[in-house]
Amino acid sequence: MSPARLIDGKLAAAEFRALVKSGVGELVARGHAAPGLAVVLVGDDPASQVYVKNKDKAAHEVGFHVRTLRMAAATPQRELLAVLDELNRDASVHGILVQLPLPRGLDEGAVVAALDPAKDVDGLSARSVAALWMGASGLVPCTPQGCIHLLERVGVKLEGARAVVIGRSQLVGKPLAALLLARHATVTIAHSRTQDLAAVCREADVLVAAVGKPELVRGAWIKPGAAVIDVGINRLADGRLVGDVAFAEALEVAGCITPVPGGVGPMTIAMLLGNTLLSAARRAAVPERELAPWRGEQPAVR
Ligand code: GUN
Repeated sequence: MSPARLIDGKLAAAEFRALVKSGVGELVARGHAAPGLAVVLVGDDPASQVYVKNKDKAAHEVGFHVRTLRMAAATPQRELLAVLDELNRDASVHGILVQLPLPRGLDEGAVVAALDPAKDVDGLSARSVAALWMGASGLVPCTPQGCIHLLERVGVKLEGARAVVIGRSQLVGKPLAALLLARHATVTIAHSRTQDLAAVCREADVLVAAVGKPELVRGAWIKPGAAVIDVGINRLADGRLVGDVAFAEALEVAGCITPVPGGVGPMTIAMLLGNTLLSAARRAAVPERELAPWRGEQPAVR
């Protein structure tokens, strides 16, 4: 078989950011304030610092007002909740993102629950999760939204497809399963207790790996011609960055595949910008499709 088609997340993200930027221009041209994004980083996890710096930069580039709040790892829970309360009340802030994971001692569930769901641009609040599964309009988590965008952009047929998602996290696996289901795929969520994971994966027309285990998925696990989306970003002892899929092997079998880096990663930030623009559009009572043309893509679960 000829090698798989590469799905270029860098290019897709750049195009999406350009759409967001023009939406911001349109919102401002109609007399509204530019979207405001608050990014909260607690502690000094090196990977989180890089992610937050990239989010801050990308948000500035599309014309958002950005506030990045850095707090000490020892910040007490009540202090963090007080900051979130202030951001919830601040009308110039349309999106709030608390970078995860939080340092030990802070209760992630309570922090997410403290966010105003209308500003929760990660789509993690209970209201957004319910909206996602019920087919109502809420804010959809960024990484799964990015995966769907990439699949649709390269024309992968989801309707009727067998989709296997490895990983059941709140941030990726579970919401991605809902999005695939809404597009009429037959969805399996596999995880660490799944028996014969290789055989389950071999059934997949669409295979998504989101577990954080370097090169877990081997070429022999992939159905010839399948679409493979690799959400993993793993740093090896030798410094190399690899995904959850053994890329060189997969390239020989898959129909199309995302590289790591340069696949799903850049899409997460692009979708965060998209969610923040949507939140600002809703606040300004501007019909969201007039600012966010990609919203035509969102089917309801039926
Ligand atoms: N940590 C890793 N990915 C994410 C994300 O998409 N949002 C937040 N808030 N934290 C993360």
